[in-house]
Amino acid sequence: MQKLALVKLGGSVITFKDKALTANTGAIDGISGALVQLDMPVIVVHGGGSFGHHWSVQYDMHTKPAPYDPHGVAVVHESMIALNQIIVNSMIKAGANPYAVAPCMFTTGHKAIAAKVRQLYEMAKANNVIPVTFGDVVHMGGRKYSILSGDALMSIIAKVLKPSRVIFATNVDGIYRDMKTRELVQELKSARRNGDPVEFSKTAGADVTGGMQRKVREAFKIASMGMDVVLVNGLYPERIVQAAHGEVQTGTVVVKKGRK
Ligand code: IPE
Repeated sequence: MQKLALVKLGGSVITFKDKALTANTGAIDGISGALVQLDMPVIVVHGGGSFGHHWSVQYDMHTKPAPYDPHGVAVVHESMIALNQIIVNSMIKAGANPYAVAPCMFTTGHKAIAAKVRQLYEMAKANNVIPVTFGDVVHMGGRKYSILSGDALMSIIAKVLKPSRVIFATNVDGIYRDMKTRELVQELKSARRNGDPVEFSKTAGADVTGGMQRKVREAFKIASMGMDVVLVNGLYPERIVQAAHGEVQTGTVVVKKGRK
């Protein structure tokens, strides 16, 4: 395990999911201010929200590799670059050193190019550069493309780097045991995943990669590789800072396999 915070900024935090192509700049600036405080190597992954998902839905593009409309490929990718630029510029303004990295630079298909992933860590460790990558449409060979979600990227990166902190920031406080009472599950043991009465919030707006359920699935996957995974509300950026320091007051920890 290496000292590294791997942080996913969900589309529900960084965009207004029900307003096409609209970034939540207030939330992004808040998170940039939090990330710059972290005294450890950081890698950021962000989702698509009302940017990537908006066009993916319009062009009927999904995670399944298929010969999607190439114009759809162009506009989905462009929208993700546009959102990435907003985030990167916000981080620069906050005094951080972000470095935009499209996922095709360190993956092939949906698999890691391990040496390139390790290079991201090198950059983060050597001089406080924060690689900022994102869910995107990626080439799968021939005419086929696929949506590679930011959540899937979290597993891909975590598997290679084994970060000491894996954090998913969404627009909810964590996983609710009961949606009505908003009772939070503080710790979720991976072994009990099928038995645990967990409800999933219906995310507003369109989502081609599976919303909260997908996040939890990736969180379990990462926990089964031996890392605790924390889900926090990114609209309270200080919770990201706390989670990176190993303190979770309001949030859910998906406990790594093997920890009692
Ligand atoms: C989606 O990434 C990327 C595209 C649709 C191109 P995510 O699935 O990780 O996005 P959010 O966080 O759920 O919005």
